Amino acid sequence: MAPFLNKIRVTDNLPFMKSLPEGCCDLIYIDPPFVTQKPRTAGARKQQTRDPSFDDRWPGGTKAFLAFLHPRLVECHRLLPDTGTLYVHLDYRAAAYIRVMLDTIFGERNFLNEIIWQYRTGGASRRWFARKHDTILAYAKKSGRHTFHVQRGGAYRTDGLNHDENGRPYKTTRKGRLYFNQKGPILSDVWDIPFLSTVSLERSGWPTQKPLALLSRIVQASSNPGDAVADFFCGSGTALVAARRHGRSFVGCDLSKEAVRIARDRVRKETKPEA
Ligand SMILES: C[S@@+](CC[C@H](N)C(=O)[O-])C[C@H]1O[C@@H](n2cnc3c(N)ncnc32)[C@H](O)[C@@H]1O
Repeated sequence: MAPFLNKIRVTDNLPFMKSLPEGCCDLIYIDPPFVTQKPRTAGARKQQTRDPSFDDRWPGGTKAFLAFLHPRLVECHRLLPDTGTLYVHLDYRAAAYIRVMLDTIFGERNFLNEIIWQYRTGGASRRWFARKHDTILAYAKKSGRHTFHVQRGGAYRTDGLNHDENGRPYKTTRKGRLYFNQKGPILSDVWDIPFLSTVSLERSGWPTQKPLALLSRIVQASSNPGDAVADFFCGSGTALVAARRHGRSFVGCDLSKEAVRIARDRVRKETKPEA
């Protein structure tokens, strides 16, 4: 196994990515800062006092953020093999700019999806429609050669659905029973996955932690068992935990010591056999 695999490093991701060999990451997921122009302290005030490195304030505004991210996206492109895929997790602040940037780096024809992750948490607004989604952009290194496994879930939206004695869904038609896949419909690019609540057992204390269900879906869709999954803004390590859970290797890093401590701890617990 390559020496960098199954490790999580405390480092700036740019020199780290540059040190890795071309084509070594089958799937890359990154969840960079969102340009919120705030220090990220919510729910993790203690950690932030000990380790203030995750500060999402950009004195040069969006332009400075784009200049920061560009060389990192170029590195992501270099690190993917022809079968690989990159997912970039963003919100309304930078998604449009990064879409154009990725079109330039990867080529428009390699765009796969603009995934809308919708959730219900947070307040309502009286000045605009409540902002209740993140955007995840997916690009293949070479569309057509990329790994992709259809994912199923949720409920069928069809009238007159019945279930047989084994729980299999079907509709009665003139020609008899028309059976549907028991795992649910093929998923689209709109994902309804609950945000981690403040009391969720999954919570690690890292303020921007994403749900494991979200990362499990990405890992299962765009990699094979044994593949290498990378997250170069790993935070609490959700993507790396998902990789471990589904039998993939992983490589991760974060600027923050505290984030890496949490990520290593989560991955270690994930590898423990079920009690
Ligand atoms: C939005 S959070 C990631 C959250 C993660 N997806 C999770 O589930 O916990 C972004 C992370 O990027 C890290 N970060 C910011 N700049 C970085 C850099 N240049 N190199 C490595 N990590 C960086 C921050 O410390 C922060 O933990």
